[in-house]
This record gives sequence, C-alpha cells and structure tokens, in this order.
Amino acid sequence: MDRNDVPAYPVGLRLSGRRVVVLGGGQVAQRRLPSLVAAGADVVLVSPSATPSVEAMVDAGEVRWERRRYQQGDLADAWYAVVATDDPQANAAASAEAEQHRVWCVRSDDADAATAWTPATGRSEGVTVAVLTGSDPRRSAAVRDAVVEGLRDGTLAAPHHRARTPSVALVGGGPGDPDLITVRGRRLLAEADVVIADRLGPRDLLDELPPHVEVIDAAKIPYGRAMAQEAINNALIEHAKAGKAVVRLKGGDPFVFGRGMEEAQALAEAGIACTVVPGISSSISVPAAAGIPVTHRGVAHEFTVVSGHVAPDDPSSLVDWAALARLHGTLVLLMAVERIGAIARTLIAHGRDADTPVAIVQEGTTAAQRRVDATLATVGRTAADEGVRPPAVIVIGDVVALRLGNRG
Ligand SMILES: C[S@@+](CC[C@H](N)C(=O)[O-])C[C@H]1O[C@@H](n2cnc3c(N)ncnc32)[C@H](O)[C@@H]1O
Repeated sequence: MDRNDVPAYPVGLRLSGRRVVVLGGGQVAQRRLPSLVAAGADVVLVSPSATPSVEAMVDAGEVRWERRRYQQGDLADAWYAVVATDDPQANAAASAEAEQHRVWCVRSDDADAATAWTPATGRSEGVTVAVLTGSDPRRSAAVRDAVVEGLRDGTLAAPHHRARTPSVALVGGGPGDPDLITVRGRRLLAEADVVIADRLGPRDLLDELPPHVEVIDAAKIPYGRAMAQEAINNALIEHAKAGKAVVRLKGGDPFVFGRGMEEAQALAEAGIACTVVPGISSSISVPAAAGIPVTHRGVAHEFTVVSGHVAPDDPSSLVDWAALARLHGTLVLLMAVERIGAIARTLIAHGRDADTPVAIVQEGTTAAQRRVDATLATVGRTAADEGVRPPAVIVIGDVVALRLGNRG
C-alpha cells in the first residue's frame, strides 16, 4: 500500500519546555507559532526575515530568533520541526536531516514528503479538537469549525461526566432575540438540568431544551411567607445541592437591574459556586435595535441608565432627578412606562428642554418590537394614547433624532 493511503496516527504532543525548530519566518510560521507557544514549546525560529507578527512574538520573548538561513545540524536536538522556508532545496535538506534524527517534521511545500501533518485545530472549554482529512485542508477546517461551534453554542451536546460539585450559572440572556445570548450562555443552557427563567429574555430558547430539562418560571415559584426573591434563591440552592446543573436565565445582563448580585450573595452564603455570564443589556441593545445609538460624536458624550420604577417624589427614590435634568447627554430609562409622565415633568421642572426628543421602544429585538416617538413635553400623553406597555426602554436625548442617511 502507498504510504500516503494509510491514515495518520493522531497524537497529542506535550511540547512544554521541549525544543521545536521552525524554519522560515513567513505566513506559515505566523500561523503555527501561536499554538506552539501556547503549548509551552521552546521555539527556535531560523530565518533571515520574519513577518511583523512573527517579529512581535520574538519581541515579546515568546520565540528565539536566529536571523540566518537553515544549516545542517539545526534539527539535531529538536523534538519537532516545522519546515516552511521559501527555498525548496533547503526544505528538502531539512526534512532529510529530520528523518535522519527521527524528528517529526511538517513541511509546508510537500505534504507527501512530511513525516507529520498539522491538523486543523480549535479549542473550546478545555476540549482540543484536531481534524485531519489527509489532502483536503479546507474540509478539515470546516469540520473543525462545525465541531468547535457546536461545542461553544451547545448544539453539539457533550456533557461533562465528572462528578459535579454543586454550582449555578447566572446567565444574562440578552434582550429577547434568541440570537443575542452569548455563546457561553447558550452552551451552559444546553448543559443544564434545571433552568429557572425570568419572563424577560430569550424565552424561545427554552423551547429548544430537551424534555428531561426542568424549566421553572421564576415568577411562579410559590413563596408563602418568604419574599419572592428569597424563594428563587432557595430554589437555586436546593437544585444545586441535589447535584443538578442549574442555570438562572435572566433578561439582559444579570447585574443591570437584575438582582443578580443578591442571588450570587445567597449562593455564596450557602457555599455554592456561582458563575456569572454577562449578557447584552436591554439598556443599550433595545435602543440600537430601534436605530438609536446611545452615544454619537458631537451629540452625546455620555449616557445614563436609570430605573424609573420608583416615582421621582417617592422618598425611597435613590435617583437625583435634578442632577439628571442638568445633563446634556442621553438618558435611558428602564421600568419607567408607568411613571414616564411624572418623570418627564420632573426633568422639565429642573431645566431639561421640553422639546428634547424621546423614543419609547417596546419589546425590543423581538418580533413585536415597536417604537413610539415623542418629546419630553408630550411623552406622558403619547405613551398613554398609544397604549405603550412594558417591557419598554425609554430614550431621552438628541440621539433620538439621528437618522441613517442624515448626518445633520
Ligand atoms: C428588571 S429590568 C431588567 C433589565 C435587564 N437586566 C437588562 O440588562 O436588560 C426590566 C426592564 O428592562 C427593560 N427591558 C428588558 N428587555 C426589554 C426588551 N426586550 N424591550 C424593551 N425593554 C426591555 C424594560 O425597561 C424592563 O422593564
């Protein structure tokens, strides 16, 4: 049988502290060096020249550079060699030397003559994926991408089988569109046994979960004499202690008006490990989905995110509305639909221009997204007339008037 017809024998080389020689400082070296460095190899580059990226690795002390051409003896002490000069004769001589010293050697110019092939590799959460197809590197890369992507987003189910220590992931699910959860969030969701979910956030993702996953609506956890939040904290703790992989799926970001810290604190007090996965907050993404940037050069140099769930004249309010009224930038209000009339009047009373443009974006990033425009003077009445309902993000400021194709 032809040597090239038999499959390669896959192996993971443990190169830490071992000498690896790379001949040639061009594009091939540029692509191979980072993973050799990441593997802890003692990398020696032999080449008269190098690309700027390779030089940067040399400058950073990650690679030793001998600025000259290949010469006999370079591979004598190597464990592994990458031969990639632009001189075919030098490549042939180097691979002959590698053969003589029994050094595994990849060759950029002649895969048939090489004694080793570089697989298409990728990593996700401690898993290294390496794919060899023999003669079709594009196919190797495509298979690698599919596997890594599947591991990252959880569509390729590969649960951990080591004994679990109790833990909970507080996952920010983003504003509602299921595509706007993070890759890590989606993977943890795919690995969950129990998901405790809020009303807001990417609820469509819950339909995709396999039948064995217990999905609990946080709003429906019975709380008897305890507070609703306390009941949620207890449910997280109980399920984690029962050895389940628990995901607390929250709308937007867990730490933006999401009570995420209260849950993290309760878990810490119960001795349960907690991972916080940030999410895309509705405070920025919902305006963006409606075409409103919260900052714009020459228009707004700041944006302030404020909760409107407490009326401005309520003694328990922690918001300095008078100070906010003096700002010129963008105000983003969450949980403010009910009180927008009172908030607008307060801002005007403290000096914010009554003509300031305002947009209300309801159910942003979902199929039901709707935008209602007004000014600070009219927004209370407009919101009522238009029947605006939560969830909505209210944006106040000149950024609201910006339009595509109109640079002003
Ligand atoms: C309790 S807060 C949670 C915020 C969330 N942690 C975040 O970072 O987006 C709920 C408020 O977020 C806003 N909100 C969340 N998702 C929204 C969406 N898809 N469209 C409009 N507003 C949204 C509304 O103002 C809603 O009342």
